[in-house]
Amino acid sequence: MYTREEGRYFISNRLWDEELDDSYSSDQRNGKPQPPLEKPVPESDLITLPHYSKAILVDKDITSLILNRKSRRLFSDEEIAPEALSYILWATQGIKKIMPNNYATLRTVPSAGARHPFETYLYVRRVTGIAQGIYRYVSSKHSLCLVETGDYSTSLSEACFDQDFVGKSAVTFVWSVIPYRTEWRYNLNSYKPILLDAGHVCQNLYLACEALGLGTCAIGAYSNSKVNSIFQLDGTEEFAIYISPVGRY
Ligand SMILES: Cc1cc2nc3c(=O)[nH]c(=O)nc-3n(C[C@H](O)[C@H](O)[C@H](O)COP(=O)(O)O)c2cc1C
Repeated sequence: MYTREEGRYFISNRLWDEELDDSYSSDQRNGKPQPPLEKPVPESDLITLPHYSKAILVDKDITSLILNRKSRRLFSDEEIAPEALSYILWATQGIKKIMPNNYATLRTVPSAGARHPFETYLYVRRVTGIAQGIYRYVSSKHSLCLVETGDYSTSLSEACFDQDFVGKSAVTFVWSVIPYRTEWRYNLNSYKPILLDAGHVCQNLYLACEALGLGTCAIGAYSNSKVNSIFQLDGTEEFAIYISPVGRY
């Protein structure tokens, strides 16, 4: 455990004040190679998503989207279309540009130093044409790769401290973080920016869902070990950082 003072230190910017002198060190400064921009992409079995398109939006007015955004926890049994899934994946982690020499990606959300330390996992339950199971979003190919088929509704709700609506979603987003992507550049200054980055991703999910007539609710209350276990994350180099179930309401 850590103390309250240590917790506050961590969300303050004091570390920057203390570290940003000539002795500041990071693996990038020390010439170590940059970690990959995303997890290895399997050669086969990718599910290509339709190209994102604003034609499917039911509300395109930014002011009403911001005004009407709210956390929605009651989902109907309706399926959602792959076009809607494509749109919300693009809105949350879509790549707009890959910088020369794979130096960084520019995406639909900001990220400190363009490090983009997240991977997106989905528990698909009711998406037309996609079998129930766990998938990872391969952002460089706007595709999904299968992690494992199966019904994880009950175990996922339990892992979220019995928040039943999570398991009743059409699809649940689970973002993992690979901290080293940010640590490579910012060393111990990484942890606050990583959390700030995560907020941007989920806010885009809220707004994109609102535009599509879908609902979502950010989930911070979940068991680290149980969610990591369901999504096959090692818990050290990669672990769950934020969850958001999505469905028609
Ligand atoms: C970091 C974070 C964690 C949250 N965790 C949960 C959660 O575990 N369960 C839940 O029902 N709502 C959760 N929420 C949603 C908040 O309860 C909700 O945003 C708040 O009540 C304000 O309502 P609104 O989003 O409709 O404006 C979370 C929101 C945030 C930003």
